[in-house]
Amino acid sequence: MEQTPPSILIVEDSQVLREVYSGYLATEPYRVAAVETGAEALAALARHPPHAMLLDLRLPDMDGMEILRHVGAQRLPTAVVIITGHGSVDLAVDAMREGAFDFIEKPFNARRLRVTLRNALERQRLSSLLDSIQETFDRDRYHGFIGASLAMQAVYRVIDSAAASKATIFITGESGTGKEVCAEAIHRQGPRREAPFVALNCGAIPHDLMESEIFGHLRGAFTGAARDRVGAAGQADGGTLFLDEIGEMDLDLQTKLLRFVQTGSFQRVGSTRQEAVDVRFVCATNRDPLKEVAAGRFREDLYYRLHVIPIELPPLRARQDDILLLAEHFLQGFAAEEGKAFQRFAPATAALLRDYHWPGNVRQLQNVIRNVVVLHQGETVDPEMLPPPLSEHLITPSRATPTEPAQPAPAAAATTTTPDPGIQPLWRVEREAIERAIAHCDGNIPRAAALLEVNPSTLYRKRQAWQSGEG
Ligand SMILES: Nc1ncnc2c1ncn2[C@@H]1O[C@H](COP(=O)(O)OP(=O)(O)OP(=O)(O)O)[C@@H](O)[C@H]1O
Ligand SMILES: [Mg+2]
Repeated sequence: MEQTPPSILIVEDSQVLREVYSGYLATEPYRVAAVETGAEALAALARHPPHAMLLDLRLPDMDGMEILRHVGAQRLPTAVVIITGHGSVDLAVDAMREGAFDFIEKPFNARRLRVTLRNALERQRLSSLLDSIQETFDRDRYHGFIGASLAMQAVYRVIDSAAASKATIFITGESGTGKEVCAEAIHRQGPRREAPFVALNCGAIPHDLMESEIFGHLRGAFTGAARDRVGAAGQADGGTLFLDEIGEMDLDLQTKLLRFVQTGSFQRVGSTRQEAVDVRFVCATNRDPLKEVAAGRFREDLYYRLHVIPIELPPLRARQDDILLLAEHFLQGFAAEEGKAFQRFAPATAALLRDYHWPGNVRQLQNVIRNVVVLHQGETVDPEMLPPPLSEHLITPSRATPTEPAQPAPAAAATTTTPDPGIQPLWRVEREAIERAIAHCDGNIPRAAALLEVNPSTLYRKRQAWQSGEG
């Protein structure tokens, strides 16, 4: 889109460093300007806001944070990268809160600066593109997505803008928020839509088979490799390679992946020949990638390579407006599938669905609706038809806590006399924690037990006790 080369403003009081940084960028296709003081920086911003600004926080005449705030307050189309001194992570965090795009810790090398600025510029380009098409009509579905919320409109627009490029997309979001739906939408929206979309779940494949799954192998490369096999990278040639749950990948394989992402070529297991392919990478994780980097589980260089265009899928509870839209869509679909007459939700049911916090996000909602449709009859979904844990939110006037088992008197008394609503009886806290874990795992009790670090039989036993308590 850009006709002119991107402009970069360096704000740094040391002349030596100004020259070093400009030198680092000399090979890049940028127009680079450098200033010494905060006042000069503000003047430059007023004349012509650059696409990106490399900003030292310590300036002779003012705090760099003021400049950052100015960019935010004026809504300047400038992506700000903060330079921080060694060990001043707190400052960096403050700066990110104030709207900095990224920070870079001194001392840094040329490569690090180039990657950081490249990402900042790509982000800046996309966000100004977004602004320019802000008037785009609102959509309530988009490829596999259902959702009309503002948060989802923003996701659709990023996909619109990024689909045509080959830039790597990094999708984050809690489990069940639609990361896979998103990856497919990117593929189908882009020019590669007729070519293969190959999804590889790095969490589901045993570690020792992973390399061969990605890169393929030659016959005899290892025990059981009976014939040559094309891996996901080869299959995705011309199309899109979706690396799902990338946070689960082994460190040594990350090294190979990095080389592949950088060069576009790889070797099959057991082969010394380089094969080159043209793939667009999309990756996803439900972990916090920066935390993984900090913990040493994810290579930093790979992260910077892949984290070019971030898309964060909001949890369902943050887009309440979409809940009923999705619920109605699922109700129609499952009713048709199961030959049931369901058409609508009773107002009380709708309220429960809307107010629930959906730890398992859209997948959990989907499972709840399927459960209702399979187990019940009628045209209207009444609140009583909802499975736990939603059904626990039903309060009937005659029995304030109809779903609780009989409890020792002191606990019951405490609930009615305790003035602090934040304090709950221990059994209820425990029960909520368990139900939440089970919902999060889509009803998979062994997985929920693993998350809770207890024995699955404990969960089965407790559930049984609750059910019999409910009568
Ligand atoms: N906005 C949406 N509209 C319609 N269906 C959706 C939407 N988001 C998710 N889904 C559905 O919810 C289910 C979970 O979505 P998906 O597998 O993409 O989630 P995920 O983020 O990859 O989860 P996980 O981290 O557990 O792998 C799928 O059946 C998907 O079709
Ligand atoms: Mg997924």
